[in-house]
Amino acid sequence: MSVPHAIFVSGVAGFVGSKLARLFVDRGYPVFGFDDLSRGSRENLSGLLTHERFIFEKVDLSDAGAVRSRFMNCHSRIPISEVWHMAANSDIASGIADPSVDLRDTFLSTFNVLDAMKEAGIPFLAFASSSAVYGDLGEAPIREDVGPLLPISNYGAMKLASEALISAAVEDWLDRALIFRFPNVIGVPATHGVILDFVRKLRGTPNKLNVLGSGRQRKAYLHVDDLIDAIVYLRANASERLGYYNIGPEDKGVTVSFIAETTVEAVAPGAGIEIEYGVEDRGWTGDVPRFSYDIAKIRALGWRPQLGSADAVRKAVVEIVRQEANL
Ligand SMILES: NC(=O)c1ccc[n+]([C@@H]2O[C@H](COP(=O)([O-])OP(=O)(O)OC[C@H]3O[C@@H](n4cnc5c(N)ncnc54)[C@H](O)[C@@H]3O)[C@@H](O)[C@H]2O)c1
Repeated sequence: MSVPHAIFVSGVAGFVGSKLARLFVDRGYPVFGFDDLSRGSRENLSGLLTHERFIFEKVDLSDAGAVRSRFMNCHSRIPISEVWHMAANSDIASGIADPSVDLRDTFLSTFNVLDAMKEAGIPFLAFASSSAVYGDLGEAPIREDVGPLLPISNYGAMKLASEALISAAVEDWLDRALIFRFPNVIGVPATHGVILDFVRKLRGTPNKLNVLGSGRQRKAYLHVDDLIDAIVYLRANASERLGYYNIGPEDKGVTVSFIAETTVEAVAPGAGIEIEYGVEDRGWTGDVPRFSYDIAKIRALGWRPQLGSADAVRKAVVEIVRQEANL
């Protein structure tokens, strides 16, 4: 039997990247995974690190020279046919405090990955973009062709700039690219996000939960199992040279207060923990307070999510409480 070409996953020690690497290894692919472990961890790769088809390298993807040489080295060992670029800064607020974070981890990582791919002649890129590229468009469900795109965070700006780089590469040398505009994705291994924040806050102050913002922010949430299902579905079924898709639930989302109440109930059932809300409609600068997707484009290809936002939150809360209890 011939060995399949390898798949490269950046951000492999993170929430989505680690799940994706596991899936490809289980499907029989050799997987090269790069991560600088700034936000991901080796624990997220447990079981994979010792797997014969998985090779991990600690690399800072904003370092052009390191990316090029380490990538070419992997490619010469087993030819890489696909790149899944999942690495980025996943903490929007930290990129507001220091814009160089998103320049480096969100934009330069994409620039350098594309540069290495061009050098090696890799034909396919899958890219984790974000709803943040749309900015704040209010209540109406967002379609992929809405415009102008005016992000309100440096993170969103650097994701949009990355999409633009990919578009230019497709025009020039890249055979095919898929851009996934993720919504808020939840589940385990959780590395960041509102549920993890709440669970950790409750560990510090068990009698009270402090919530950033009024709690009325309403957003769409997708469980990571649905997300992974959607992106591998698009890999098999989207035929455009440059495909770009919203991925999300079919509803208008749930409020932050729903998430706070669900988390409090899971951490200490019936304990009557006080939830304290702020006054602002936004949790922080760059936060988009209301957001839902129109997912007709991916629906038309035949994919739909298993869980709506509320059930995704209920499931993820249970998983994240368990994750934190085992630390
Ligand atoms: N989780 C979500 O809700 C969500 C929403 C929209 C978009 N996304 C995008 O999906 C992708 C995966 O997100 P995630 O939730 O798994 O985040 P994550 O933080 O768990 O994973 C990102 C990984 O990238 C790594 N990384 C960051 N900068 C790096 C660098 N310079 N060099 C090497 N590695 C680096 C981190 O260490 C981390 O392991 C990201 O591109 C993110 O922007 C996620």
